[in-house]
Amino acid sequence: MYFSLSCWQPARLASSLARLITLFAFLTPAFAQLQGRVGPTTSTAAKRTVKVCSVLDHGATASKSSDIGPALVAAFAACKSGGIVYVPPGEYGMSTWVSLSGGQGWALQLDGIIYRTGTAGGNMIYIEKGKDVEIFSSTSQGAIQGNGFEYHKDNNNGCRILRLAHMQDFSIHDIALVDSPLFHLFLDTTTNGEVYNVIIRGGNKGGLDGIDVSGTNMWLHDIEVSNRDECVTIKDPSQYMLIENIYCNWSGGCAMGSLGGSAINIHDIRFDKVYSANCNQMFMIKSNGGGGTVRDCSFSNFLGRHNAYTLDIDANWSQLKKQAGDGVLFHDLNFTGWHGSCSDGNRRAPINIMCPDAKPCYNIHLSDFAVWTETGSKEVYKCSNAYGNGGCLKAGGLDGKALAAYAVTTVTVASAPAGWNAPTMAADLTTLGLSSSIPIPAVPTTFFPGATPYSQLAGGAAASAAAAKDSRK
Ligand SMILES: *[C@@H]1O[C@H](CO)[C@@H](O)[C@H](O)[C@H]1NC(C)=O
Ligand SMILES: *[C@@H]1O[C@H](CO)[C@@H](O)[C@H](O)[C@H]1NC(C)=O
Ligand SMILES: *[C@@H]1O[C@H](CO)[C@@H](O)[C@H](O)[C@H]1NC(C)=O
Repeated sequence: MYFSLSCWQPARLASSLARLITLFAFLTPAFAQLQGRVGPTTSTAAKRTVKVCSVLDHGATASKSSDIGPALVAAFAACKSGGIVYVPPGEYGMSTWVSLSGGQGWALQLDGIIYRTGTAGGNMIYIEKGKDVEIFSSTSQGAIQGNGFEYHKDNNNGCRILRLAHMQDFSIHDIALVDSPLFHLFLDTTTNGEVYNVIIRGGNKGGLDGIDVSGTNMWLHDIEVSNRDECVTIKDPSQYMLIENIYCNWSGGCAMGSLGGSAINIHDIRFDKVYSANCNQMFMIKSNGGGGTVRDCSFSNFLGRHNAYTLDIDANWSQLKKQAGDGVLFHDLNFTGWHGSCSDGNRRAPINIMCPDAKPCYNIHLSDFAVWTETGSKEVYKCSNAYGNGGCLKAGGLDGKALAAYAVTTVTVASAPAGWNAPTMAADLTTLGLSSSIPIPAVPTTFFPGATPYSQLAGGAAASAAAAKDSRK
């Protein structure tokens, strides 16, 4: 198991050891969320001794009206076989998009702030097929400002900010991605990656996804997302992922899907310690027809308040066009330690498990689930074609064989479940912009009530003080 080198400081040794023990406990076949080490295989310091390729030496000027695109491409060409592509502190405009393909043992040290000025679609920064790559800010103050409001105020969309595809052994950390015209971060078919100490703040509108990820052996942790669509969402196919300490501070919420296609293959995903406030859902699995399987996943320690949906497995998800096939099979999914409240639990069931008629789901376990309604004095749970235990699930069907479809059954809960009241984060977001510029936030130093992030901010004490100041605003 590999951790970012910054973890290995004496003060953190004890917690790191505890963490190692916990992680190795996961590495048994039944609970193998991560399959091995994640992150770059050489340190930043080692890369720095090879070479540093500053964009300023490749034609960039630190000015918002400049175009950093060509200089970034040139600096990458000079350092892609080993070294650090360096964007020094300062402000840079970006009017041409870049595609950084291949390379090994390189880093992108983004200590400056890049402002989108170009208007093409696609991705501002597309990075593919690289190995041993670190994308980070050494000050924790690097950012990409997408100025998406320029599109959103007229109800248009533009480019994505950052897309990685077919990358291996990499990390992204200590950066802010702000107001993307479309998705913020898309990790498409990536392997052995780590994403942490990242803040994403988008506009209050659908289609502005925070993080979408597909691939194998990924550790995403200590991340805050604000937007009106995906917070941290698993796309197909995905396996062996650990997603933890996630703060959806006004967002669509975390999810799997939408699961289009006939051969969905998602398994061994663990979400742990997810805090959601003012979101569409605490967790949703969304499909409509199609085929394949989602299995062996767990969703533990979810805290929420003021969310529309809570736990929502919707195999008739109307926003996805009906796919060919008789449905995705869901089995062996555990939901435990869910606390908090939802907006209106009578109108939108906090447990809503709708599985396909032709493929009833089974071995769905709900335990320690206590989410109460913020409106009215009762709430309902709704299940259809769903077997397991807890909530409204029908008992039986442990081997998944010969399970009968059944129509929606409802359980009414007429008093608050014991232990529902969850701790809150300080300063939850209560409004989110759309038509005016979104300020660049500091990377926070906490992402879940009571949980210490696994790595300190790369920018150290100064960055932490800036983050604390930001959260007092
Ligand atoms: C779900 O919980 C059961 C009972 O604690 C356990 O045996 C099983 O391994 C868990 N499955 C997953 C996918 O976490
Ligand atoms: C989902 O859609 C199918 C086919 O349209 C229907 O038979 C089934 O009852 C629906 N399930 C729920 C829970 O609405
Ligand atoms: C949530 O977002 C709001 C709005 O930007 C911010 O003021 C607040 O500090 C955030 N909450 C936390 C705990 O970071």
